[in-house]
Amino acid sequence: RLHSAPERSIVLVGLMGAGKSTVGRRLAQRLRLPFVDSDEEIEQAAGLSVAEIFERYGEGHFRDGERRVIARLIEGRRKVIATGGGAFMNEETRALILDRATAIWLDADIGVLAGRVARRPGARPLLKGQDPKVALTALAEKRNPIYALAPIHVRSEPLPHSAAVEAILRALA
Ligand code: S3P
Repeated sequence: RLHSAPERSIVLVGLMGAGKSTVGRRLAQRLRLPFVDSDEEIEQAAGLSVAEIFERYGEGHFRDGERRVIARLIEGRRKVIATGGGAFMNEETRALILDRATAIWLDADIGVLAGRVARRPGARPLLKGQDPKVALTALAEKRNPIYALAPIHVRSEPLPHSAAVEAILRALA
């Protein structure tokens, strides 16, 4: 299938807490590919955390950096890329991912997402000062139809992460 052409990088998209980084890292190990997390790349380039970038320069600035980082990652050698939850919402970034990589929507119930983001309070500026369940429900409503444009959709629960990895490997085969 075209979307799983062996030379294409694999890009995980989906809401905060879906397990993109954890599942992505394990998937990369299984495929013997490098793993890169776009949020981490941006943080390294800026020398600031995602929360600090939002605070000092605003979301627009973060999105610009995110688009450039993802474009660069996709251009390079084949790898597994975990993206921040909003990356795929940017039309240009999304077009690039759909065009040049294999996009996988990793998805979970709101309660699971909320439980996972609660483990790193303060790390997600879009949830700042809000009930994570309420905020994530609103984001899911807006974003899920767009995540659904990814050719592969895997639910990361109730499966353990290892089973989500297996489900992705089957979908790619
Ligand atoms: C965001 C998700 C975050 C991070 C930023 C914005 C979003 O990444 O990029 O806080 O818009 O959903 P994770 O999905 O890895 O939490």
